[in-house]
Amino acid sequence: MVGCVLVRNGRTIGEGWHRRFGGPHAEIDALRRCHGSPRGATAYVTLEPCCYYGKTPPCTDALLAAGIRRVVAAVRDPNPRVAGRGLRVLRAAGVAVTLGVCAEQAAALNAPFFKFIRRHRPWVILKWAQSLDGKIATHTGDSKWISDEVCRAHAHRQRGLVDAIIVGIGTVLKDDPLLTSRVRATRSGTIRRPPRIATRIVLDSDLRIPPRAQLVRTAKQVPTWIFCGPSAPAARVRRLEAAGCHVTRVPLAQPADGQQRRARLWQPFTPFSPSHSDSASRRRAGLSLAAILDELGKAQMLNVLVEGGGRLLGAFMDERLADEVQVYIAPLLIGGAGAPGPLHGHGAARVARAHRLVETSGDRAAALRRLGAGWFLRTRV
Ligand SMILES: NC(=O)c1ccc[n+]([C@@H]2O[C@H](COP(=O)([O-])OP(=O)(O)OC[C@H]3O[C@@H](n4cnc5c(N)ncnc54)[C@H](OP(=O)(O)O)[C@@H]3O)[C@@H](O)[C@H]2O)c1
Repeated sequence: MVGCVLVRNGRTIGEGWHRRFGGPHAEIDALRRCHGSPRGATAYVTLEPCCYYGKTPPCTDALLAAGIRRVVAAVRDPNPRVAGRGLRVLRAAGVAVTLGVCAEQAAALNAPFFKFIRRHRPWVILKWAQSLDGKIATHTGDSKWISDEVCRAHAHRQRGLVDAIIVGIGTVLKDDPLLTSRVRATRSGTIRRPPRIATRIVLDSDLRIPPRAQLVRTAKQVPTWIFCGPSAPAARVRRLEAAGCHVTRVPLAQPADGQQRRARLWQPFTPFSPSHSDSASRRRAGLSLAAILDELGKAQMLNVLVEGGGRLLGAFMDERLADEVQVYIAPLLIGGAGAPGPLHGHGAARVARAHRLVETSGDRAAALRRLGAGWFLRTRV
């Protein structure tokens, strides 16, 4: 998220932020909301102002036209079309420029955008609700509801902040979810429109999704994408497209994606090891997550929420394709060896190889806090 605050004579006269892709940048938003003249003011920005015509005109032009005298920017924009040029344009026009104030915090805040610019892939957030003993469902597969209403309302708000929500076909077959952001305003009781309408995405190699699934039945109202394998039946593709779904074939996960190599390194005696036939291990590997993230990047998606289940979450972890984890921890003890945890897949064979979550000082998001009757953990991975 990029923000801008305009200050003149020690008073805040305008605040703005970049609300959506393609929309006005934070500087423009702040100038539009400014009380009084911005002439002579200082602009504090979390990202270097842009200096080129993209979806909107250059912010440097707007700042100069408004008579801004000083710009304090937290970080340089890594976009090759800017990369320091925005600051040089301002300096050349006589604006005093300071760079690097709260740089670490701003880098954490802008991490999804920075990843998108560097890798052309969205920021991947893994999300699940678990009991205190680490179960995301009972041994019968029941998972409604592990977290309480406060946590579920929070989870709905999170859905309204992302470009896409991804689930595996296992979750669709078991839970028949709607995957929309249903946020109820507390006072009037009306449903508020979320800031973003997330595209709902299902990973379904053979298109097993039933036509009566809620996701399919509502596909004409809410964007619904289904990724399938190269040999998914064409008749099922046609049927889903007629229902309003957007179906894309992607390759199956290959050894190069790391799964079979990791199986060898991490779990030499697992029944999922490559000693099984190639086709069997490929079938278990599912679709290529890397190819899917590339597709989402092409569609300009900046952040995606992976909502499970365990097989899909585990695959993202195994492939080291996750950037962030959001966990709702409920004060419940479910128990049972057959009750699933959040991360299937191969996992680490040794504790020394486990993902260690490190809280960086600039990342205010890396925190465990009370939420409802339970806790909410949000951290980078
Ligand atoms: N507590 C929570 O937060 C939460 C959230 C969601 C789900 N759940 C629970 O989780 C359970 C379902 O979990 P699940 O593990 O069976 O299903 P899942 O992870 O939702 O779906 C797994 C399926 O997705 C397909 N897939 C395609 N590409 C994949 C890839 N690269 N990696 C992994 N899977 C891929 C595979 O089926 P194909 O081979 O047919 O494509 C795979 O069997 C349910 O009991 C549900 O209630 C709990």
